[in-house]
Amino acid sequence: MTERQILVAANWKMNGTLEAIRPLVDAIIRGVQGISNEVAICPPSVYISELTTLLNGSEIRLGAQNVSHLEKGAFTGEISISMLSDFACQYVIVGHSERRALYAETDVLVAEKFKAVQSGGMTSILCVGELLEERESNDTEKVIARQIDAVIEKAGIEAFKNAVIAYEPVWAIGTGKTATPEQAQEVHEFIRLRLARHDNQTADNVRILYGGSVKADNAEQLFKMADIDGGLIGGASLVAEDFLTICKAMR
Ligand code: 13P
Repeated sequence: MTERQILVAANWKMNGTLEAIRPLVDAIIRGVQGISNEVAICPPSVYISELTTLLNGSEIRLGAQNVSHLEKGAFTGEISISMLSDFACQYVIVGHSERRALYAETDVLVAEKFKAVQSGGMTSILCVGELLEERESNDTEKVIARQIDAVIEKAGIEAFKNAVIAYEPVWAIGTGKTATPEQAQEVHEFIRLRLARHDNQTADNVRILYGGSVKADNAEQLFKMADIDGGLIGGASLVAEDFLTICKAMR
């Protein structure tokens, strides 16, 4: 079996000010020195330039929270892949449930964004996850399969050679209600098997992060599960001490 390096990615969402993020980044840079896990920060897009400067010379990777699927043109408020390429961005989150729910992003649009990220030579962090009512009606696998298949159909399985998946059950996001390690593992394994239908090696290599109320006190139990390769962290990534504890959680 492949040894997959743990990735801990911060999704700051729409939080932070310059005044707040400078000391936060400084503390994270100092705190992660010498650790074996990979760490990434996805700030609001207006701070990508600042983070490019602040992270220069550190091991921490930079990511964006969203991108347009289009190259350029009259799309007020949107940001293109080539704009992100002007900075040190390596990752782009696509298909976050907040974007699917609040900004009406469909499976097809998410797949197009995934493809745009791939063409730009960056790595998607593709988010998938079910709503509470979908879990309660036993539709979790159906929903996840639909979200994953839409991307395979548009971008091809090869695109997953350079991609990360994040399983984020919507009912666990920002609620303090984490999926149990066993619940998460079950879906992570399902995702890997879904990819393995197309290519075993790619399925084995792809990192699948868990997201949804990951905290300093539950990260390690989650990361110990066979198919959980790290976390996508919301609220806890805004507090240096909590985030650092998560960054140091081992298998
Ligand atoms: P919380 O960690 O705040 O639950 O958010 C998870 C998330 O949505 C990360 O993308």
